[in-house]
Amino acid sequence: VPIEPELSSCGESTVDTGKTCMNVPCCPPKLKDSKIIDFEPLLGSKIRYRPAAHLVDCDYLYKFELAMERMKALPVDDPRNFMQQANIHCAYCNGAYSQVGFPDQKLEVHYSWLFFPFHRMYLYFFERILGKLIGDPDFAMPFWNWDSPCGMTMPQIYLDPYSPLYDENRNLEHQPDVLVNLNDGKPFVKPKKTDDFYELTKREQIKSNLYVMYQQMVRSAKTASCFHGAAYLGGCVSETDIGCTPEPRGGTIENGAHIAIHKFVGAKNPPYNEDMGNFYSAGRDPLFYAHHGNVDRMWNIWKTLQGKKRRDFDENVWLNSSFLFYDENANMVRVKVRDCLDSKTLGYDYQSVDIPWLRSKP
Ligand code: C2O
Repeated sequence: VPIEPELSSCGESTVDTGKTCMNVPCCPPKLKDSKIIDFEPLLGSKIRYRPAAHLVDCDYLYKFELAMERMKALPVDDPRNFMQQANIHCAYCNGAYSQVGFPDQKLEVHYSWLFFPFHRMYLYFFERILGKLIGDPDFAMPFWNWDSPCGMTMPQIYLDPYSPLYDENRNLEHQPDVLVNLNDGKPFVKPKKTDDFYELTKREQIKSNLYVMYQQMVRSAKTASCFHGAAYLGGCVSETDIGCTPEPRGGTIENGAHIAIHKFVGAKNPPYNEDMGNFYSAGRDPLFYAHHGNVDRMWNIWKTLQGKKRRDFDENVWLNSSFLFYDENANMVRVKVRDCLDSKTLGYDYQSVDIPWLRSKP
């Protein structure tokens, strides 16, 4: 059956590194009335174009910072408050919920076909809240264009310590001009002929990143299962049924560039590498939302690539899986995967920028 979170079951999240473990409270504030609204996109609204973070101008930045400042200043128990937003990730990613009708089954949105839909809707509501806070329903938040040479460093707008976009829990050794390494988060790339790891020159790093993108978006992502990840089903009788355990298998981008960026940004601070280096804390870094903007953009791009199998799944068990979010008016909304397949239906798309990795066959 489709996966559905059981709101009333929300409990502490478990953060487990394999070596150490802790529990954190991440559940959303209680519903005032127990009303859950089924999501409906606002039809006919104009398309909001999310800009690349390294290309925005100061008028845009001022607006974005104002919205973030206001989100951080909301009462702590307002579900739209920034920490509450961050906790959504912690709850859905660290097993706070069980599934409707199956109290013994945990819900986890990573490393399965729920990855892209969950994060798309998470960002959608985050963006709607920002827009509401500055009275601009057309506001579109920035994406971190890490798949393109000029976007391969942490975007400057997130680096001013006095900005609401700043987060002190990051790896300071990875400030610009240090380039991201999309190769599985490994700090170095091993050249073919030697056993030694060595530091790439900037040009080599850019090339390597473009190859990695080509690999993860084109060559190894020819089917929905490769790109999105494996099926994850609710209501299993036995944990050994296929697709029943959380985290069956992630898709190429999720496992690859996505994780690499999390590791690149998170502080070198064992054991949990907050903020970006661990799912429970990742949403506390404003850069998270720009990072996932680009991940989400990859879903749109993937669907435009050639090949008849590059289409989303059409199984109802995927399409009817659902998530719960508070919207910009603090109402609880149920969204199904089928509601979020097309970003234009949700009223947004991405600024069109060059995609050099399309021409970077390894
Ligand atoms: Cu829910 Cu980038 O992780």
